[in-house]
Amino acid sequence: MSADLMAQETASKRLSDYQPYPFALETVRLDFRLDPQETEVRARLALSPRRAASALRLDGEELELLSLAIDGRSLTRDEYTVDKTGLTVHAAALPAQPFTLDTRVKIAPEANTALEGLYMSNGMYCTQCEAEGFRKITYFPDRPDVMAKFHVTIRGEAPVLLSNGDLVAQEDGFAEWVDPWPKPAYLFALVAGDLVAHSGSFTTKSGREVALNIWVRKGDEDRCAFALEALKRSMKWDEDVYGREYDLDIFNIVAVDDFNMGAMENKGLNIFNSKWVLASPETATDADYERIEGIIAHEYFHNWTGNRITCRDWFQLCLKEGLTVYRDRSFTADLRLGPVKRIEDVIALRARQFREDQGPLAHPPRPDHYREINNFYTATVYEKGAELVGMLHTLLGDAGYRAALDLYFDRHDGQACTIEDWLTVFEDASGRDLSQFKRWYTDAGTPVLRVREQFEDGTYRLDFEQDTKPTPGQPGKPPRHIPITVGLLGPNGQELVPSTVLEMTEARQSFTFEGLGARPVPSILRGFSAPVRLERDVSARELAFLLAHDTDPFNRWEAGRQLAQDALVALAQGEDADPAYIDALGALIADESADPAFRALCLRLPAEDEIAQSLHDRGVTPDPEAIHAAREALARDLAHTHEDALTALYEAMAVPGPYTPDPGPAGKRALRLAALGLLNRLDGGARATALFENATNMTESLAALGFLVQTGADEKALASFRSRWEGDRLVMDKWFIVQLAACPPERAAARAAALTEDPLFTWKTPNRFRALMAGLAGNHAGFHAKDGAAYRFYADWLLRLDPVNPQVAARMSTAFETWTRYDADRRAQMQAELERIARTEGLSRDLSEMATRLLG
Ligand code: ARG
Ligand code: ZN
Repeated sequence: MSADLMAQETASKRLSDYQPYPFALETVRLDFRLDPQETEVRARLALSPRRAASALRLDGEELELLSLAIDGRSLTRDEYTVDKTGLTVHAAALPAQPFTLDTRVKIAPEANTALEGLYMSNGMYCTQCEAEGFRKITYFPDRPDVMAKFHVTIRGEAPVLLSNGDLVAQEDGFAEWVDPWPKPAYLFALVAGDLVAHSGSFTTKSGREVALNIWVRKGDEDRCAFALEALKRSMKWDEDVYGREYDLDIFNIVAVDDFNMGAMENKGLNIFNSKWVLASPETATDADYERIEGIIAHEYFHNWTGNRITCRDWFQLCLKEGLTVYRDRSFTADLRLGPVKRIEDVIALRARQFREDQGPLAHPPRPDHYREINNFYTATVYEKGAELVGMLHTLLGDAGYRAALDLYFDRHDGQACTIEDWLTVFEDASGRDLSQFKRWYTDAGTPVLRVREQFEDGTYRLDFEQDTKPTPGQPGKPPRHIPITVGLLGPNGQELVPSTVLEMTEARQSFTFEGLGARPVPSILRGFSAPVRLERDVSARELAFLLAHDTDPFNRWEAGRQLAQDALVALAQGEDADPAYIDALGALIADESADPAFRALCLRLPAEDEIAQSLHDRGVTPDPEAIHAAREALARDLAHTHEDALTALYEAMAVPGPYTPDPGPAGKRALRLAALGLLNRLDGGARATALFENATNMTESLAALGFLVQTGADEKALASFRSRWEGDRLVMDKWFIVQLAACPPERAAARAAALTEDPLFTWKTPNRFRALMAGLAGNHAGFHAKDGAAYRFYADWLLRLDPVNPQVAARMSTAFETWTRYDADRRAQMQAELERIARTEGLSRDLSEMATRLLG
């Protein structure tokens, strides 16, 4: 590669460099002749110049160009140039009027292990184009602001040939698809294979009947019913809540085993990781069912927020992802238990996004530069992006939010938009100035919100102070516009001041409440109204009071969480824990008025990584072994103190009758298993063994297996689970993950190494690779074992995977994102591994960018 090209490939792309494409693309005709080694792709692009005398640049990678013509005339070799990243037709060769450009290229789907572009999975053809995979299929302006109508013909031996839009013609070995809606290339999809459909239909609010199909491999058709019903619920919800109707006569979902991420919203042809479609009681857990429903909804909701209105460029990714996550969360909250869903989302946000914000990978929801966009499908873009939409909703209220969304759809349907467009809609709909709010999109980092209280002569005052630490490339952090939902409680738990939204805009700001008879107990940041870290000097007694009485379920849980966190932080530093947490949980276990799912969440201790984060936040270097010991000690103490109540709960929460994944029974199972998790520390696995042997659903079977793994006496259970499920890829992924994530830390690295020798460790399959590696990385004390064995092992495998599948290798490298929090020894070991990765010859752009950023 020339130095020039090298520079071009390694240089950052910048938001400030945005230029509109100099051509309009009216229509696209694609013709595929499928073959595993030699697929031929013919493309005809109808282009019209927007400015005279501009050369035509088309993206293209790993393509063999067979022919190139303009208006039917083959171009001569001096009229264009081809390089590693695309093709340029020189201005002199271009007509000044609209013209058609024809290309023929050859690609090799079977050799495509990166799973981007057109590739094969178990003999089936499949595509993944977001973000920039279409350029591996044909020469094209592969950018989201170039939208066109696609007309696709497919020739191939497979019995099922699918693409976007409506099927207009079909015969043996041939299918023709027309998508009437203009779309960018990243929403293109093609699937061909020996598939069977689980079908249904949905009638839209204006009475149009839509055919629904879930396409799977033969043998999987009896695991599709739940996904199909979830799809119907999603379609209905989007009509009811957002007024959005589906816009084609057919909606197809395909399940594929080899997939780099969760799922993809291609127009009318969503493609899913089979893990997020297929479900049966024997093979999927309650959590899987809930995720499947959420992801089906997410991809469906993209039809409006993503497809009808897309992003101008990839810097705006959170425009579609943040909004769509916000929508799928609201959907789940409506269909299931809203407060429980909110708590789960905040647990995940803190575990993934706060963690990201705290380390070298911190970036704003709208980044302004990147080398490889695939590295920015992050918790910050998705989950924090959703929090920002939630804050806008809080600031404008229900009616204001709905008005803004209506305006967004009216004004921008069919366009490729920016965060500026989005915020302008909210400003126009509400008359408010959101220029300060915009900092949430452009600034990285989690603000710390400190609060102090004053009570005098019936006046209660809250003094807030906000502060955000510097993040890479952003030293100064001006104050943000923070909605703080607050309620005030009286001494018996009665609500003195119901939830109100305080709007903080200054670095320091006070809010007063008049006419109070006595000092109230404040409930601050209800519903987690902003993604900040709240710091408040508060006694364990007051937290216990809030855990018992807060009328806001989120803050009720939060009070318990805070108590647990304080106890764990003390124990991890060799101090005594305040008994308040253990006492308070006693009352909660017995509180039958509280929902089982809610109580289950309260019984769940913070993860070890989160305890490490907490210690780091308080300026203490986390010691993984001490954290593990502290968490075990607290769990054992809890179990001891409440053994009778937990035992009673374990009995009472048994769900008789056939399994259903409905929130009611799922909540009971969650509480029952939370109780068992604690009791397991006392009975040496006796109850878990019994449950494992008798379980009739995967939720209980897998939980029991995890508890046995925890005790260390897991050999028999792991073997029997394996022999029962070795033919089932999705269940075997669980087998890999659970025995690493839950095992005693001192065993983790050696066990991971041994598992790579297992013939079932088909490491080129992303799900299997992730199961093993995420299992190990999820074992906090095991991953951070003093001898550095896990670090080395993990880095070895990233390097092995990188040439095969750079996207997944890069994604998995985030296991190292916390390296700067630990002691000098561990830091040095992780740094050495990252440097070893960074120095490796021929590293992908994906992993190389990650290693560089991780090293800071
Ligand atoms: N748009 C897809 C979704 O959110 C995810 C695509 C991820 N693509 C990637 N290259 N990481 O549902
Ligand atoms: Zn999405």
